[in-house]
Amino acid sequence: MTIAPVQRSTSLGSSAWTDARLILALEEVVEKELDRHLKVAKEWMPHEFVPWSRGRDFPGLLEGEAWEPGDSKVTPLGRVSLVVNLLTEDNLPSYHHEIATMFGREGAWGTWVHRWTAEEGRHGIAIRDYLLTTRAVDPDELERARMSHMSEGFTSDNAHSMLQSVAYVAFQELATRISHRNTGHYAGCPLADQLLAKIANDENLHMVFYRNLLKAALEIAPDQAMRAVADVVTDFRMPGHGIPGFERAAAQIALGGVYNLRIHHDDVLQPVLRHLKVMEIGGLGPEGLRAQEELGVFLDGLDAQATKFDERLAARQARVAARRQ
Ligand SMILES: [Fe+2]
Ligand SMILES: [Fe+2]
Repeated sequence: MTIAPVQRSTSLGSSAWTDARLILALEEVVEKELDRHLKVAKEWMPHEFVPWSRGRDFPGLLEGEAWEPGDSKVTPLGRVSLVVNLLTEDNLPSYHHEIATMFGREGAWGTWVHRWTAEEGRHGIAIRDYLLTTRAVDPDELERARMSHMSEGFTSDNAHSMLQSVAYVAFQELATRISHRNTGHYAGCPLADQLLAKIANDENLHMVFYRNLLKAALEIAPDQAMRAVADVVTDFRMPGHGIPGFERAAAQIALGGVYNLRIHHDDVLQPVLRHLKVMEIGGLGPEGLRAQEELGVFLDGLDAQATKFDERLAARQARVAARRQ
């Protein structure tokens, strides 16, 4: 089928695109992007990144050795970030449910939903195998956190809107990529760095898929898509926000430079918005224009907030350095 011609509605009233019509209109783009994704996504083996020979039995049935903090040289920041990243990946059944419900399990959309789920499944497997084999974290604590987090499930903030769902995942996949990549840099273990770089590469391809879909949505339904982008950007939160102790972990992750306001603004929001030329899109109706303006005001405010954060962080680092002398 062909994509319906550009519809420039002046309001979000009766002439607005419904989710069902958008899903149908974007199917051809999904097919093309799926094809491209399958060509560029290279197979990789999670077990090749796990140093199995370093593994030891744990207490219980095998009467092995209890975990101790000194078992691994992974940094405290690496530990916290790896656990947040893993628990985020662990909630995959809930994410699958959310996107399968929104995008469907038929045709190209369904093929994407299943392929994406399979790729994401590899991330949790690889990180857990790495953490347990290298004894980088307390395995009992990890299992209890997984149970607690998964028992809560995950409900998308954007389940009411197909366009918001697409906009959210475009930013969220990049956020996840950056979070994995920076965690690897600070983990203090070359193997963790390599594993997380591999995972980050998958997340990047996921981002490209959704970003290209969002680009098509901005062409088909510019006013509604602009509104969706503005709503998602101004109200963004990470999928792992329900993790037990998330606030405390997020603060450590921010101070350590794995993920903070500056990174969110510079490395996640801006690259997607710039690529899609969101702030330069013309010919919008009143609702689209209002959304574009809101987005601009929000980004300026976020940049200013990020600058304040940078200054506080620099002052803190200077105090720590002075104390060490
Ligand atoms: Fe992932
Ligand atoms: Fe992903």
